[in-house]
Amino acid sequence: MKRKTTLILGMLLGLMAVTAEAQCVQGIRPGQEWPDRKGEHINAHGGGLMFEDGKYYWYGENRPERGFTTEVGVEVYSSTDLVNWTDEGVALAVSEEAGSPIERGCIMERPKVIHNPRTGKYIMLFHLELKGKGYAAARVGFAESDSPVGPFRFIRSLRPNAGKWPVGFSRRDIRRAAKLKEADYKEWWTPAWRKAVTEGLLLARDVPGGQMSRDMTVYVDEDGKAYHIFSAEENLTLNLAELTDDYLDYTGRFVRIAPGGQNEAPTLFKRNGVYWMITSGCTGWAPNEARMFRAKSLWGPWEQLPSPFEGKDAEKSFHTQGTYIFKINGTEDGFVFMADRWNPASLKNSRHVWLPILFREDGTPVIRWVDEWHPQGE
Ligand code: GAL
Repeated sequence: MKRKTTLILGMLLGLMAVTAEAQCVQGIRPGQEWPDRKGEHINAHGGGLMFEDGKYYWYGENRPERGFTTEVGVEVYSSTDLVNWTDEGVALAVSEEAGSPIERGCIMERPKVIHNPRTGKYIMLFHLELKGKGYAAARVGFAESDSPVGPFRFIRSLRPNAGKWPVGFSRRDIRRAAKLKEADYKEWWTPAWRKAVTEGLLLARDVPGGQMSRDMTVYVDEDGKAYHIFSAEENLTLNLAELTDDYLDYTGRFVRIAPGGQNEAPTLFKRNGVYWMITSGCTGWAPNEARMFRAKSLWGPWEQLPSPFEGKDAEKSFHTQGTYIFKINGTEDGFVFMADRWNPASLKNSRHVWLPILFREDGTPVIRWVDEWHPQGE
């Protein structure tokens, strides 16, 4: 009898705990399920964060239970404490119109939203792949809205910087690059191929139509200028490209970072006048060892450093791939690394891994695992 009572009491307590957890989450638990206010695992992958008027907005890929295409669009959640999130619905919906670049069944990845103080608009950039074309299109999509929670209106998609050469490319560099032909370098990873890629083999190929644009992030500097950072040249080279003042186009000024270095999943932040970029290698949904870069100017030079991850499974970045870095409002140094632990068998159920960034005395970022933590903002 006593055992039975204890069992029922235990079940009741368990039930209460589950109900309480569904409505209110106590802390950030990297790699665990992350229920929103309704108790549903947050469906905002490859996401980004925006803070405004006391609220955080988390934009990300709404992914289906099974499959790899976009059936819904970009989802947005809001929160005041970074822990408890309200699903605000679909910020940018796929189109039901056949032939639309964002037709249901396309692929929308890694959406990032920034607020333009000059125009008052919220601008979304995202990686767009066209329906039925796998990852061949390699385009960036632009959308805008009058409200942070949308609805966002799709404006257009493109490959950036058609007709433009990178900042710092001399006439001689351009002449040399323009002479390189892919047909002469059929075998990848040979020393001659590496040299040709560095000198602009694929860059030159793509100048007429614009650079390929896949994994991406957006960064707004202290002076309000915005930059789109993306994997170009068959994912071999990162581009950092300046956006126009309305954030809807490119000024044509861009630099290449780590040509031939195969960086994906770029994330960027600035601390004490130094820009830090954390990226991943290029192994699809499978995790790999993160890379880190440092620069005094966005225009480079970018110096490569070892991965910031430390501890068990650091060589697999704790089985994650980064997606964004943000600073907790009201903190000096409360930078957070947002990452995905992809589950290709069910992308919807991929886990979120948010970890605080620590700093060595010399300012170098370090990322260590924690089972649970509590963001302390304002
Ligand atoms: C990853 C990339 C993801 C997604 C995936 C598709 O490398 O970071 O955003 O594109 O490949 O395989």
